[in-house]
Amino acid sequence: MGSDETAASSSSTSAIINPSKKQGLGWIEWGRGWYKVVEEFLFQRIMASHLENPLPLPPLDGLTCIVTGSTSGIGLEIARQLAQAGAHVVMAVRKIKLAQELIQKWQEEKGGLGMPLNIEVMELDLLSMDSVVQFAEAWNARLAPLNILINNAGIFSIGEPQRISKDGFEEHMQVNHLAPALLSMLLLPSLLRGSPSRIVNVNSVMHFVGFVDPNDMNVTAGKRKYSSLVGYAGSKLAQVKFSSILQKRIPAEAGVNVICVTPGIVLTNVARDLPKFLIAGYRLIPYFIFDPIEGSRSTLFAAADPQVPDYCAVLKQDEWPVCPYITFDCRPMNASEEAHNLETSQELWEKTLEMVGLPSDSLEKLLEGEQVQCQYGPARE
Ligand SMILES: NC(=O)c1ccc[n+]([C@@H]2O[C@H](COP(=O)([O-])OP(=O)(O)OC[C@H]3O[C@@H](n4cnc5c(N)ncnc54)[C@H](OP(=O)(O)O)[C@@H]3O)[C@@H](O)[C@H]2O)c1
Repeated sequence: MGSDETAASSSSTSAIINPSKKQGLGWIEWGRGWYKVVEEFLFQRIMASHLENPLPLPPLDGLTCIVTGSTSGIGLEIARQLAQAGAHVVMAVRKIKLAQELIQKWQEEKGGLGMPLNIEVMELDLLSMDSVVQFAEAWNARLAPLNILINNAGIFSIGEPQRISKDGFEEHMQVNHLAPALLSMLLLPSLLRGSPSRIVNVNSVMHFVGFVDPNDMNVTAGKRKYSSLVGYAGSKLAQVKFSSILQKRIPAEAGVNVICVTPGIVLTNVARDLPKFLIAGYRLIPYFIFDPIEGSRSTLFAAADPQVPDYCAVLKQDEWPVCPYITFDCRPMNASEEAHNLETSQELWEKTLEMVGLPSDSLEKLLEGEQVQCQYGPARE
């Protein structure tokens, strides 16, 4: 049975067992969610006016960071600034040649002063679970510590019809949630080796208007009408919910924190699927929209600021139901009401592990230093 059919049959079973199960956001929640989105758009610049641009970073010599989707937009800025602060940066990307050209440009910009940037490129395509496993196996084989994993790569195929990947998943869900979740799990051995370490997920304020049904992650069961907005917002909410359980389950002593951030509303290629006239309009409102350097600040703060682990520790001690969330102005933010539903977060955690082909006890095994087998990967094709 394909993953869609499995999802469809299990979703109808769950609806029979529990007909009162929530099928979407209520009007008030939805209204509050859109209020958050509009507020971010209108006031992000004022609310972030206390921040320097670019955000000053502490020296990061000796730290290793993996940044996904670093050939464009926010990810490009994150990779460049981390490397310029002295970190060893791995650009995990689809466009290898473009990444190499960027590195060469950044090295030249440095004008040959001081040490060359410590930056390299590795191939990663989040639309292929095999590619994720291949990347993780290649990285883990080095037995090197990893200090910061930045799950930045993402898509928002605005106005496009629903697309299912070759792995059988709705593409927003795969690129924005499932593949980064698999990557985070598979890189845990390296993150534990690099502890204290951080996983930073570049999330979005759009998770406030998102809803995700763990039994219909692909939005194919016919219970909800698909749109690219439903796909994108749902995938970002799924990422917050998965991150919340991951952060909860990793013991404090392990020293690995999982943080979500919203970068703000940023002028990047993410809007490339908008109609041409809308892209032109988008460019006409620079006062409201951040440039990628401004948009990289919250992620860099979550990745490098020394206060962040203390904030994570406080939430852990309080058994807060949601993972630490940093907003575009580098302040803590409470995630959406729906993100606080621990019961569905737990269901989503289990469903995600199943969909990415990992055993349900993977985390416990990885924390014990044992190996886990993923159903994806080159050896198992
Ligand atoms: N811009 C905003 O207003 C905004 C707001 C909230 C959240 N975000 C989030 O910020 C993150 C970065 O987006 P951005 O705005 O910087 O957009 P962007 O300029 O389009 O950059 C997205 C990056 O993700 C990569 N990517 C896409 N699909 C991939 C795949 N299958 N495998 C590997 N890499 C892939 C792209 O690489 P290719 O060039 O190879 O496609 C690109 O480098 C995303 O997670 C997005 O959801 C953005």
